[in-house]
Amino acid sequence: MTVNINDNTMSYLPANDRYDQKTNYRRCGRSGIKLPEISLGLWHNFGGVDVAENGRAMLRYAFDQGITHFDLANNYGPPPGSAEENFGAIFKKDFLPYRDELIISTKAGYLMWPGPYGEWGSRKNLLSSLDQSLKRMGLEYVDIFYSHRPDPETPLEETMMALDRAVRSGKALYAGISNYPAELTKKACAILKQLGTPCLIHQPKYSMFERWVEDGLLAVVEEEGVGVIAFSPLAQGLLTDRYLHGIPADSRAAKSWGFLKAEQVEPALAKVKLLNDIAITRNQSLAQMAIAWLLKDKRVTSVLIGASSVAQLKDNLAAQNNLTFSDAELKQIEAVLKA
Ligand SMILES: NC(=O)c1ccc[n+]([C@@H]2O[C@H](COP(=O)([O-])OP(=O)(O)OC[C@H]3O[C@@H](n4cnc5c(N)ncnc54)[C@H](OP(=O)(O)O)[C@@H]3O)[C@@H](O)[C@H]2O)c1
Repeated sequence: MTVNINDNTMSYLPANDRYDQKTNYRRCGRSGIKLPEISLGLWHNFGGVDVAENGRAMLRYAFDQGITHFDLANNYGPPPGSAEENFGAIFKKDFLPYRDELIISTKAGYLMWPGPYGEWGSRKNLLSSLDQSLKRMGLEYVDIFYSHRPDPETPLEETMMALDRAVRSGKALYAGISNYPAELTKKACAILKQLGTPCLIHQPKYSMFERWVEDGLLAVVEEEGVGVIAFSPLAQGLLTDRYLHGIPADSRAAKSWGFLKAEQVEPALAKVKLLNDIAITRNQSLAQMAIAWLLKDKRVTSVLIGASSVAQLKDNLAAQNNLTFSDAELKQIEAVLKA
């Protein structure tokens, strides 16, 4: 999608009943902020290669359902930066009057420009990147600014001081970290606390297929009073019915720019089929069960999904209708995952 939003579809008026119990909100750690149990990420399907009106329709639908949190990063696209540009164009046309109802996040840490300052965790990279992101999105501030990944070479203090600076300058309201392991998270939280800008949230990869956070990180964030937003909760689409009958031509695994590779599909299928059977017995789609499985843990503030259509989004948001699991169901799921 290019920044070519069709003006004829203007006059977006959000649903009046958007906060009438369609979506539940959870407090983010021990902060003042609540996030929707399901948030929408713009990593795929909002870039220069995608269809503008489809992305716009998803953002409108999400907001109509009470989804108040949209997650971006400097590098989302492709090409890098284009998701922020496209979001900015849509925001200006549809969401400007509702800025105070939205939590918009962005991140810095992955490669954005050539030379020694275009990635990782230096103060130079983070603060320059934040300025670029604000410009692309046409925003005065983001709600959450993340260090996207830990930098093994930059002192942790420097990266955290850059987050603190972003907040103090008014260009971000809160600071977050993403992909930081448990011990480093503890240290990062301590530094941020000392600086007077407590860490709001951690964004780790977490799904039925990716459970590293259970070995320490969840305990650390709980202790520190930091929220958790789980990314790639559907394992990029594997934990859905998308690939049960092959690889559809319009799926992420089929796209040359998709981060899910076709060769990752086949090895997962046996478990996916068994999990799908369990979901059916719960009257849920597999996507809904995968989301509910994460939300059963109260330490998880929000589940950060992706979607390529309004229909998928609709399916996923309905996960909130059944978040409880019997012990027998949990055992069954565990047996499949550990097999
Ligand atoms: N912090 C980080 O390092 C990091 C890294 C990655 C992602 N993230 C964040 O997390 C967000 C979500 O990541 P993700 O897109 O990988 O999440 P995901 O929810 O695991 O996967 C989304 C994909 O699953 C498929 N899908 C979604 N709902 C479906 C349904 N109901 N039925 C069938 N298929 C369905 C779609 O694939 P098709 O396109 O094939 O239809 C969709 O694009 C990103 O947008 C980004 O904000 C953060």
